[in-house]
Amino acid sequence: MADHGALRPWRLVELRGEARQRLGDSLVAASAARGITNSHLATKPSRAELLLAIVSVTKPSLKVPAWEQDATAAGVAHVLSLLLDEAGWGVMWRSGPFVDASEVRELHGLRENERLLGWLYVGGVPDGTRDGPKLPVDPGAFLTAL
Ligand SMILES: Cc1cc2nc3c(=O)[nH]c(=O)nc-3n(C[C@H](O)[C@H](O)[C@H](O)COP(=O)(O)O)c2cc1C
Repeated sequence: MADHGALRPWRLVELRGEARQRLGDSLVAASAARGITNSHLATKPSRAELLLAIVSVTKPSLKVPAWEQDATAAGVAHVLSLLLDEAGWGVMWRSGPFVDASEVRELHGLRENERLLGWLYVGGVPDGTRDGPKLPVDPGAFLTAL
């Protein structure tokens, strides 16, 4: 795991069963607090059996700034999604405008030095629905040389 200073600046929160409903409720409350009415948000977290909240935990460090610690936590989510996919699970990383909302932060018990990077939605893959090959990436558009 790429982790400058071996700070382990992440933690995961699993949400199963009725905890997903509580997340839906907090999303509705967060949207209402911003003047948006969206009752669909209540059931969205129940689309997968398991949600894994990815939390970046900023540790005190003179040499590793917060953005590097966020990058490490994002790396954990990325690696985990690849491993789950490899093991046959369907995985989707979802974020959205409410990851920083106080209602959502409170539900996850986030402290001041913690930031929610979204949730990995994990579930089964119905027959015939697994993605096919991705569109090829042109490496020339992403690589230059000095
Ligand atoms: C940080 C992050 C947040 C994401 N949030 C959402 C989201 O809120 N809604 C969504 O439909 N997909 C979300 N995705 C999924 C991406 O849009 C995309 O489907 C996924 O990364 C797979 O990309 P690929 O098809 O190029 O492999 C998110 C991905 C990342 C990395």
